Amino acid sequence: MIKNNIKDFKKEERKIKREMERFQNLTGYTDLDDWQEFMNKNWEKRNKNKHNIKPVGTVKKVYAKEIMSYKDGLELEGSYLDEDYYKHKAKENNIKNWLINFDCDVYIKKNGKDKLLFVFRKKVVSEKLMKLGIENFRKVAKQKKINRGAYSGKLDRKKMPRYVGEWYHPGTFMTRYYSSVSGKLGKTTISNMSPSNIVGYYDRPDRNLKGKGSNLRKTQFLRDFPIRWIMGREYLKELFRIYKNLYEDLPGDNPYKLQMKDACVAKNACISNTCFSTATVNYSSRSAMHIDKKNKDGGIAVLSVIEDHINPNTYDSSYLGLPQYGICVNVRHGDIIVCDNRELWHGNTEYIQKKEKIYDMGEKYKNGKIIKLTDPEIVNKWYFNRFSVVAYMRDDIVSNILKNKGKCLNQIDSLGVQIGGKFKSLKYFRKLIDKGYSIEYVLNKLEQVID
Ligand SMILES: [Fe+2]
Repeated sequence: MIKNNIKDFKKEERKIKREMERFQNLTGYTDLDDWQEFMNKNWEKRNKNKHNIKPVGTVKKVYAKEIMSYKDGLELEGSYLDEDYYKHKAKENNIKNWLINFDCDVYIKKNGKDKLLFVFRKKVVSEKLMKLGIENFRKVAKQKKINRGAYSGKLDRKKMPRYVGEWYHPGTFMTRYYSSVSGKLGKTTISNMSPSNIVGYYDRPDRNLKGKGSNLRKTQFLRDFPIRWIMGREYLKELFRIYKNLYEDLPGDNPYKLQMKDACVAKNACISNTCFSTATVNYSSRSAMHIDKKNKDGGIAVLSVIEDHINPNTYDSSYLGLPQYGICVNVRHGDIIVCDNRELWHGNTEYIQKKEKIYDMGEKYKNGKIIKLTDPEIVNKWYFNRFSVVAYMRDDIVSNILKNKGKCLNQIDSLGVQIGGKFKSLKYFRKLIDKGYSIEYVLNKLEQVID
């Protein structure tokens, strides 16, 4: 037992060293605390000057026309609508601006009043912060998830992991299945795989803890990669700054102010001082038509795109399509769209490949490693350089806190269980890093345990 622990600690020590080297290469700093202090000051400065932001009401106003009800949108759930669908609808309904590719605030008329549908700005996110975003979230975004439901489309054998055999009572988006290895019927359901994952905080207990976990917890990424999280969240803070600068002076109904109230309730489950609890990160995934049911009612999600500089597989199209209004939005590198994605049906149009060949990824010219594409990545077109993120507040995070009268807040630092007792688990060291302790301090602690 002790031997195994020492082995684990040694492994952890190597990992911390490796991750700290990445940190130093990316930031030029050797100390997490110093760097965070510098970043916070920088954030304050940018926030104060509304750096690079044209607030709502200062750009072109566009009126959208409803061509399909929310209810009719249900029939499209899980389907893939191509660019041609929207071109055709635009002709049929005489929609002039079917493809939005400029700064604008888009409104609809509801009961004679203007209602803000979404806000779109081109090239507003800082290049430096996007670099931190992609370098730290690339790997987690590329992990294939099997629980995305309608987002990943109607059940498709090509998009299933190899261990899935015969389906058992399949629905449209989810099914139980027999294992192709053991032949046994599995207890869990599965949807198509998609390169899409979540970072930040989550509202369901960890399944591995068999009912003992907390319903308010960190996602796995935060537990396993705290240093990457500290760096990557600066990018999410930038998205929040832009959202704040766009909306804070908006008179009347203001979703930002509403969301800030929720953020006060769920303070410990928010990403730094933002009003986001969670961010979905996607890599070259094409979403089928869906709505994001888990977002806070009345709240707003911020969506942005980074085109990955180490991936030569460029694309056209992959617009964000909004079929209720027959509109597509061309969200590209550094652009931002703010909308209520709980009310708006949305999905991506097809990727149009710009080059003839499909390339592996990697920093070839800087001695970097080549990241080979896998067969499922090629078959399912998960190789384009489009990284997208959606930052939002999860409805159940706020309601779990209210239901528990704030009690579960103390448990949030672990993935489901409290750290305690004499034995110092690896999680303890990750927690130290998360709190901003220096690498020397953490390694020193590790050495003490190994001794
Ligand atoms: Fe979505």
